[in-house]
Amino acid sequence: MTRRPRAAVILAAGQGTRMKSSLAKPLHAVGGRAMLDWSLELARAAGAERIVTVWGAHSPAVRERAEAAGALTVLQDPPLGTGHAVRQAQAALEGFEGNVAVLYADTPLIRPETVEAVFAALDDAAVAVLGFEPDEPGGYGRLIESAPGVLEAIVEAKDANVAQRAVRLCNSGVMACRSERLWDWLSRLTNDNAKGEYYLTDIVGLARADGLTARTVRADAAEVLGVNDRIDLAAAEAAFQARRRREAMAAGVTLRAPDTVFFSHDTGIGPDVIVEPHVVFAPGVEIASGAVIRAFSHLEGARVGEGCEVGPYARLRPGAVLETGAKVGNFVEVKKSRLGAGAKANHLAYIGDSDVGAKANIGAGTITCNYDGFFKHRTVIGEGAFIGSNASLVAPVTIGAGAMTGSGSVITGDVPADALGLARARQETKPGWAARFRAAMTAKKTKAKE
Ligand code: UD1
Ligand code: CA
Repeated sequence: MTRRPRAAVILAAGQGTRMKSSLAKPLHAVGGRAMLDWSLELARAAGAERIVTVWGAHSPAVRERAEAAGALTVLQDPPLGTGHAVRQAQAALEGFEGNVAVLYADTPLIRPETVEAVFAALDDAAVAVLGFEPDEPGGYGRLIESAPGVLEAIVEAKDANVAQRAVRLCNSGVMACRSERLWDWLSRLTNDNAKGEYYLTDIVGLARADGLTARTVRADAAEVLGVNDRIDLAAAEAAFQARRRREAMAAGVTLRAPDTVFFSHDTGIGPDVIVEPHVVFAPGVEIASGAVIRAFSHLEGARVGEGCEVGPYARLRPGAVLETGAKVGNFVEVKKSRLGAGAKANHLAYIGDSDVGAKANIGAGTITCNYDGFFKHRTVIGEGAFIGSNASLVAPVTIGAGAMTGSGSVITGDVPADALGLARARQETKPGWAARFRAAMTAKKTKAKE
């Protein structure tokens, strides 16, 4: 049997009032990625070849973002309910025949396997709904089954009678249906209900009335957690982190104190990496096997090669690339710079817009002065070069392979390979000066007291 084509409609037109935010709810991030992007990615991973995002007039930024990600977009204005929202996607799905999933842009933790299971339920059903049993069924729609897995209707909490409200199985919001009858059902929805909205959930009753089967698929409550306010947002973040930490450890990463390590959606981390407590992986980080990330380090947009050592207290900013065995120690910041294999910057340094050759040694307190207030300039440090402590390398500047610079130098000109660059005042030593100074000052003070 060939697989039926798949499409997804992502609902993102709600007001999100409870976030109390100038940013549209779907654009708030979990694991360093906007919830909208989580749902777009989920749709793609679940095999949707056409993805339509429904946005609201209050949040054109949602539209821009969805389009940037390659999705189709349709405006729902005014928002008259979830069924009305899906109906807006009809023109965008013109000519599509297959299975259509409905996803919400405020439910970031659903896994592709789960959507796969919902699609699979359509093999012998017209509609499939993802259900779960929350601790507090509260305002969720209740799934009314005639037998386990066989769905008769979805009743919204506000419209439910006492017996229906006692049902624990709730609607997660994720739903899939065969496209053949979908538009017909949506056109037949009414808003004759407690909220005065066109409920998507009513298509289950319509399918049953047409003599078709509807099914339920069960999910874990943590996975279908929906975000309505900042408290939910924090709960979703915590659930994401917990999942990511378990995945990392299962893949052979040592986390000394898992609860203190924070990942992003795209953190790539190889086996036998050791991560000490209190480390943050902001988006765009790749760590190769055997690296050690020591306590209190912050990494973003950085690539760390095999066997590298980072931290404690290191900061790798976007564009930092550490090749095999390189070391970045405490209070060192690296931005848009490559450190070649075995290069070291062990203490208190700023390496920005630089290319550092293999095995070069950057002394404590070295600063690449990359910015003149208008433009950024590059610093090139050759293989095996030795930068003495407390040097200022005023870019653009090149230090040749094997060259050295004297401690405390302000290097403004290129230093050729194997040369010594020295740029500091010559020391003057005055024998006995300190003793004479003390004697003179003591005498002065004694006289002042008299
Ligand atoms: C909906 C379901 C309920 C389910 C719950 C799960 C319906 C009628 N009810 O209720 O069964 O238990 O989700 O969280 O579907 N949206 C639009 N346009 C609209 C209305 C909503 O795009 O006109 C979007 C919202 O942005 C949101 C999603 O649809 O992403 C859900 O809308 P919401 O109003 O939160 O639905 P619930 O009342 O929670
Ligand atoms: Ca909701």
